[in-house]
Amino acid sequence: MKFIHLSDTHILARDDYSRHPDAAATLGKIIGEINKYHRDAEICVITGDITHHGHPEQYEQAIAILGDLAIPYILIPGNHDERAAFKQAFPDTPVDENGFINHGHTFGGVRFVMMDSIVPGAHHGTLCQHRLDWLRNELNAHQDMPTFLFMHHPPFEMGLPFMDTIRLDADQKLGEIVTANPQIKHLFFGHLHRPATGTWQGVPFLLAASTQCGEPLDFRHEKEEDLEDRNRLNPGYGIAFADSTGGLRYHFDFIKFDL
Ligand SMILES: [Fe+2]
Repeated sequence: MKFIHLSDTHILARDDYSRHPDAAATLGKIIGEINKYHRDAEICVITGDITHHGHPEQYEQAIAILGDLAIPYILIPGNHDERAAFKQAFPDTPVDENGFINHGHTFGGVRFVMMDSIVPGAHHGTLCQHRLDWLRNELNAHQDMPTFLFMHHPPFEMGLPFMDTIRLDADQKLGEIVTANPQIKHLFFGHLHRPATGTWQGVPFLLAASTQCGEPLDFRHEKEEDLEDRNRLNPGYGIAFADSTGGLRYHFDFIKFDL
């Protein structure tokens, strides 16, 4: 089963940030590649920061661009999104009984669990008691199914001080759930705008590329204005192959774009 992974589309462009390219143009170019080479993918998963400011007109533009995708897509919000505007823009996206954008799907015998990790008005992420309970129930209901867990915020530090300060703060409780549910075979996050992999609680994870641009790979500075971007990353996305045991092969691809 083949799927596509997009993240951090950040529609519109960060026009206050001259080092960033036009997010609408980069996403459009990547969608062109998907439609040309990956029409056989079953689903496209988008792990948050659909818009840059959460404004309704930014969602309108995102919907228009994503409307060109030749395959269906599912998505969750990131810290740059606004929950109410997101729900209005994507009314077909399931919402849980408490209004969080948590939803589960099955593709190729694998359960895709999508979680809303946002905190209104803040850039860090969390999973409150309601969301942790939803996750426990979702996992209990599909215990025999290999599971991929998707959320915007990673629950661990990556050694990048700027991003580490705005990670998911519910790491301990999520960690207990992950270790108690061995059917979770892989974790997928956005937020960093940097392709990276590792293991957490014994489970492999990956951090997605952004379809707009990379964040600086800066291991020293905590403040955004101090970040040094020595190796700019081009807009990128993921092409994944999963099997019914939850095995995964994942390619990062980057498009040529004038940065
Ligand atoms: Fe982002």
